[in-house]
Amino acid sequence: MLRLAPSRGLLGRVKPLRAAALPRHFPSLPVFALYPRRNQSSNSVPSSSSSVASSSSPSTSTSSYTVQNRSYHRDDWSNAPPVILSKIGRNLHLTPNHPISILRGIIESHFAEHTSVTPSTPIVSVYQNFDELGFAPDHPGRSLTDSYYLNREHMLRTHTSAHEVETYRSGLDAWLLSADVYRRDEIDSSHYPVFHQMEGTQVWPTTSLHELQKRNAELAKQLADCPLVIEDPTTISDSNPYQASHDPEHAAQITQHLKHSLNGLIFRLFGHTTQDGEPLKVRWIEAFFPFTTPSYEVEVWWNGEWLELLGCGVVMQKTLDQAGVSHKSGWAFGLGLERIAMVLFSIPDIRLFWSTDSRFLSQFREGEITTFKPYSRYPPCYKDMSFWVSPKQQAAVAASGSGTARVESRASAWERESGDNGGKEAGVSTAGGLEPSATTATTTTPVGGKDKAFHENDYCEIVREVAGDLVETVTLIDEFTHPKTGRQSKAYRINYRSMDRSLSNEEVNALHAQVQDRLVADMGIEIR
Ligand code: PHE
Repeated sequence: MLRLAPSRGLLGRVKPLRAAALPRHFPSLPVFALYPRRNQSSNSVPSSSSSVASSSSPSTSTSSYTVQNRSYHRDDWSNAPPVILSKIGRNLHLTPNHPISILRGIIESHFAEHTSVTPSTPIVSVYQNFDELGFAPDHPGRSLTDSYYLNREHMLRTHTSAHEVETYRSGLDAWLLSADVYRRDEIDSSHYPVFHQMEGTQVWPTTSLHELQKRNAELAKQLADCPLVIEDPTTISDSNPYQASHDPEHAAQITQHLKHSLNGLIFRLFGHTTQDGEPLKVRWIEAFFPFTTPSYEVEVWWNGEWLELLGCGVVMQKTLDQAGVSHKSGWAFGLGLERIAMVLFSIPDIRLFWSTDSRFLSQFREGEITTFKPYSRYPPCYKDMSFWVSPKQQAAVAASGSGTARVESRASAWERESGDNGGKEAGVSTAGGLEPSATTATTTTPVGGKDKAFHENDYCEIVREVAGDLVETVTLIDEFTHPKTGRQSKAYRINYRSMDRSLSNEEVNALHAQVQDRLVADMGIEIR
């Protein structure tokens, strides 16, 4: 049964990726991106060594990784550093009284008839994460700059959809699967390489799809009683079609059920917050995912801006065929738990979710959404780093047409997105990123470290490998090309701050020197 009544005490704000819609007090908000929300990617190098002083498990010997008692051989795709692997098993989404777990619980109680699923390991095959779901061989999400690989065959899942086929195969028809997912990314208050997603889905045997019409009428009636304004200009068209193998009448009923179900969930999460007695506004936008059609993104009007919440759609029949349940059809959605929790609990920095400080943890209680009360933060200490990009990396950029273009290309994607047309120019998916296309320069062969194009994610990854959670933000503050030599210069500001103690200037200097040494050794940059 859907429960539409909002709970008490919720509040919040947020907005992801779209620059134009960022709330003023958040520098940028969680991407937790919905594939294919990805922009230009270049190749990256499997890092063969790591200087991270991370926890003793898991181990990464030179020839293999041991994770959760299983050994994975290393090869030229291995790029998962110990600092990332050490997060496996933290299970914030299963930690009682943790905001991520509280939010999971609230969504699970809303979809009371769905079964909760928690996969035992974040390690999946590349096939499961991408191929099985129809991702093109050159999809940018596959890039070594964007994903963590144990080797060519195994990786840390980048989204919970990686478990769709196996979960459908288990025979479940209505389930919610929560899990930690991993993506290489930039560093700021809303990006962390490990975050949590929830996949939700419902499928029916084709023979019972005729019952959906009645069910949809009931749901529509329930929603009509809620102060909710739903903007839904989407249509079924060549760009967002029903599936050829589906009876259009059935596909329409599934789509309607998806929309009613998610409108109900959003009202449950945000409905109590409607300001000034205004009804909550929800907006449906056409999207593209390789494993659903029709596909949508859903946004909520929040603090004067549209906040993107989730991606969803009618499950590709091929997915269900692969799971051995060809006789079923239905819908699926995927949402980022941190993104929503940051808004609902007013949590300003994504690293706080990983805090073990009782001043953070003691504030939350199962089943309740309460406002985070900031406690005094330890002072930040920033250090700038100006350098020349290695000539080889620059040459690789020129050859691939990617790499350093990322900063600009994302900005322009944002600009396009925030335009009046809802981001529908050619080449920009409604999900925000560039469509996998000829513009992406991903190949399936990684190239050597100093020889590949400079990529900000690689830079950030090394900073994180050395400085771990002491690094708060990494921001590009300047870049130029020398008019005579043609050499490219970049300057990044690295902000160091501990969540639980004061850092001395000497300590930060020493750390920054280590970061710099690693960047010089691994990326071939030349400090200016
Ligand atoms: N897996 C997608 C993502 O991370 C979200 C999604 C899930 C979209 C299910 C459609 C259906 O970005």
